[in-house]
Amino acid sequence: MTREEAVKRIETLRGEVRRHERLYYVLNAPEISDQEYDALERELRTIEKQFPDLVTPDSPTQRVGERVAGDLPTFAHQVPMLSLDNTYSADELREFEERIFRSIGRRRIAYVAEQKIDGLSIALHYEGGRLTRAVTRGDGTRGDDVTSNARAIRSIPLALQGQDVPEALEARGEVYLPRSRFHAINQEREGRGEEPFANPRNAAAGSMKSLDPRIVAERGLDVWLYAVAQVQGCALSSHWETLGRMRDWGLRTNPAARRCAGLDEVLAYCEEWREKRDTLEYDIDGIVVKVDDFSLQKELGATSKFPRWAIAYKYPARRAATVVRDVIVQVGRTGKLTPVAVLDPVSLAGSTVSRATLHNEEEIARKDVRVGDTVLIEKGGDVIPKVFEVVLSKRPSDTIAWMPPAICPACGAKAVRAEGEVDRRCLNRSCPAQIEEAVKHFARREAMDIEGLGEALVHQLVERGLVRDFSDLYRLRLEDLTGLERMAEKSGCNLLDQIGKSKRREPRRLLFALGLRFVGERAAMILTRRFHGLDAIARASIEEMEGIHEIGPAIAGSVHDWFQQESNRALVARLRAAGVRTEEEPAKEATNTPTPTFDGMQFVLTGALHGMTREEVRTAIEARGGRVTSSVSKKTAIVVVGANPGSKHEKALDLGVRCIDENELRKMLELAL
Ligand code: IVH
Repeated sequence: MTREEAVKRIETLRGEVRRHERLYYVLNAPEISDQEYDALERELRTIEKQFPDLVTPDSPTQRVGERVAGDLPTFAHQVPMLSLDNTYSADELREFEERIFRSIGRRRIAYVAEQKIDGLSIALHYEGGRLTRAVTRGDGTRGDDVTSNARAIRSIPLALQGQDVPEALEARGEVYLPRSRFHAINQEREGRGEEPFANPRNAAAGSMKSLDPRIVAERGLDVWLYAVAQVQGCALSSHWETLGRMRDWGLRTNPAARRCAGLDEVLAYCEEWREKRDTLEYDIDGIVVKVDDFSLQKELGATSKFPRWAIAYKYPARRAATVVRDVIVQVGRTGKLTPVAVLDPVSLAGSTVSRATLHNEEEIARKDVRVGDTVLIEKGGDVIPKVFEVVLSKRPSDTIAWMPPAICPACGAKAVRAEGEVDRRCLNRSCPAQIEEAVKHFARREAMDIEGLGEALVHQLVERGLVRDFSDLYRLRLEDLTGLERMAEKSGCNLLDQIGKSKRREPRRLLFALGLRFVGERAAMILTRRFHGLDAIARASIEEMEGIHEIGPAIAGSVHDWFQQESNRALVARLRAAGVRTEEEPAKEATNTPTPTFDGMQFVLTGALHGMTREEVRTAIEARGGRVTSSVSKKTAIVVVGANPGSKHEKALDLGVRCIDENELRKMLELAL
């Protein structure tokens, strides 16, 4: 290909890729198959590789950049980013309208009602149609320049599209983390022993402040754009028109926005979403009501803080009052004691809540939660509801302050709170509650993957003394199982079969399954990759482990301490004796080529992936011996389901083909290396 041909072809390909990105991410209406899209992107990458000087920053291949050093630079907003005045009732909304009526001397006004996205506001600057800068709200006058991070969000176009792209544009909107991503990320974090994010908003804000765009790409953030702050070379006369034009330019606008002929329609909209908000893939904390006509907006103007032409109708935080009947203490698999309030069941945000976490004894003391108290419980983005506050006016006269237990409620051993720690722990390693939790973790899909070994069963096995540690699982006989509740011969056989199969799981899974403190899936993988099995890990010194990239002192210390204990070494020996694989199998060839762990497996991709391009996914799967095919059939091993998946997902569900999300895929790829 000559250079001249390359220039032309690159231009065509970029145009096509952008058009399809928009159809896919913005309009949710793809015109071509994922494969065809991949082929376009792949061809573009190939030519760009051949002619590196033709690569421009706005090429769709250049989304995710390198980590930056130091702090994020700041940027002064040319138009201040105001916030919105809040209202909480229909009456207050009517007052808002009355103020407008008085001010403009007219009593019929059209509005646009939109969901108020609970994320983090962002300003996107486009010049000559190219994304030149992205800035957070900051204090409203000056924000952080987060351009590299914004580029890593797939639904933010690097270049505007369509007819009449304005010479300059500042669009504003909200970056958010979809709920499914929030839950997946928190699960990963907890697996690694890291503090989970409190809610999707914190996770989104934390991600956008990251200095490494690759983290943003991985998180899978998304955006809704809802305003134009500045525009040159284009006349806009209403908000509704603006939303349409933004959409035409390839900016992702929320399809739930509605033009309302009057306030009654606005109120109906508010009511509609009050109930439906739990069904959304993102959190909203209310509705934003905006006067549609720009000339009216201008006439109404703004105070120093808020525009007078818009207001937020906030939904009350989802709280409910109920009574604390008991405070029980749960024992985790590492012996951590967590106080939990047992409540009169109450309905909250679409589900019935009968328990709420109290986190730790300090938290209880701070809130002074007592049995008999009426409390407000709250459900944020978090999965587990929490006690927000005690309604002191309703406190019965005979309550007493809650006292942390001196002994473990499950085994009666001494419960100790170490100096400087917030958690109290049961130090008895054979505490049945700890064993139950540990066995449940051992059997998890990400660990030894023992299907059918659920909570109720584990409870019985531990209660009857059939399982005192992991190695007992491998000694279970059919007659042990058939004596248990709800366990017939057939299910017993199946379970034994599953337990038997788990013996062949890779050592990295075993290491994770053993549940050492701070050793999540990733650390387990890194350690086994380096040491090829538990034997060498047991012998490794702290320094040796700390020398490994990504293994810090907490992990190294925890692993070392664990293997120092004679009882733990004996446990590993018993597992090994039972036939559980503790060491990597020697590579078939003495080369560095990765074992093709996906040998012969067919993968199908559907929906939008966030952190990886389809080409990267394909290359990675192929490097591991798998294949990516275009349609789902019985031969398909795995369907990778991204955002807004198409009919392939349904077909996979029909055929019972295993479906995984991007996150799981990433794990599989890492683990299959
Ligand atoms: S319009 C002049 N529309 O809410 C302010 N804001 O409390 C114009 N927000 O900082 C804002 N969804 O980050 C607007 N559909 C929406 C919104 C929205 C969320 C946020 C925005 C703003 C905050 C104000």
